[in-house]
Amino acid sequence: MDLKIAVLPGDYIGPEVMAAALPVLEQVLRKGGHSLSHSTHPVGGAGIDAHGKALPDPTLAACQAADAILFGSVGGPKWEKLPPQEQPERASLLPLRKRFSLFANVRPGLLPKTLADTSPIRPERIPDGIDMVCIRELTGGLYFGAKSTRDLEGGDVEAIDTMVYRKSEIERITDVAIATARGRRGRITLVDKANVLQTSVLWRKVVAERVAAKAPELKLEFLYIDNAAMQLVLRPGQFDVVLTENMFGDILSDEMAVVCGSLGMMASASLGAVANRHGRPFGLYEPSGGTAPDIAGQDKANPCAQILSAALMLRHSFGLEDEARAIERAVDRAVAEGVRTADIAGGRTAVGCAAMGKAVLERL
Ligand code: IPM
Ligand code: MG
Repeated sequence: MDLKIAVLPGDYIGPEVMAAALPVLEQVLRKGGHSLSHSTHPVGGAGIDAHGKALPDPTLAACQAADAILFGSVGGPKWEKLPPQEQPERASLLPLRKRFSLFANVRPGLLPKTLADTSPIRPERIPDGIDMVCIRELTGGLYFGAKSTRDLEGGDVEAIDTMVYRKSEIERITDVAIATARGRRGRITLVDKANVLQTSVLWRKVVAERVAAKAPELKLEFLYIDNAAMQLVLRPGQFDVVLTENMFGDILSDEMAVVCGSLGMMASASLGAVANRHGRPFGLYEPSGGTAPDIAGQDKANPCAQILSAALMLRHSFGLEDEARAIERAVDRAVAEGVRTADIAGGRTAVGCAAMGKAVLERL
């Protein structure tokens, strides 16, 4: 198979973790007899510096011509003074999600029993490890609803964000949750705030109807977001597939990542309705953590989330399950053998970003 990928490393630790991930991707594909062509393009702050905007036209064109996007992370203090709508995150990642209709964000939260010591949760709370996946709606809700700020009489100021959801948007993301749950333990937990929000009332109704009609064999449960945030710390092992709207998913997936060890371990896939040249979903794959400006340029970042995002890309956008598994096993093995960056080192001596990448490469 020939794979055409747009590589968008972004800012701060973005390029460092990308540099550790690409050799892993290249090697697994070489071994499998596949041909990879990738080109690297500035995005986010790097896009602003190079072309005056966070999503430069050549970068967007490269994404359009590719089968998938491997994304690093964007934003940071250097560009914080720009107007909100020009900020790297808002002006690159969000338009990319919208442009390619990447409505389904899939974030696996995996903590094998053997790595339980990397979690901040006491081991007795996770006797069987954690194996859950967060399915987050990614192109609706507060992120994309109408926004405004206005001055009121008397000197007060009012800002408005709008949370909007359509039945059709909820249906298509529910279908992703159904397909995911079928390949797993068959449980979906819808996380919402149906005791307060009108959008949540619609979510509950639509998800319940959809699951009853299409997948009555699945077990569907409902949790309010506040309770879910608590349950995730108390008994993280209880979750299988967590389905939720954009904003709740943003918050919950960070919590899930850290419960599973570290944000530096959590990969993510953003999938949409568009098919690539191979007839598989076009997608954007990125680590769930941010640009970590505080440790950038010091060879301290954890590249595992970026490496695991490449694995997700092989699985979802190319159907290369064996290659994806090979990468995931190599990461597990390296971490289990005690090769760990500072974020998951516990009491051990930490290795740097490059060494972590190399350790994974050697175990492929
Ligand atoms: C994420 C990030 C983004 C989001 C930011 C960078 C806009 O936090 O992918 O979770 O809020 O969606
Ligand atoms: Mg987030």
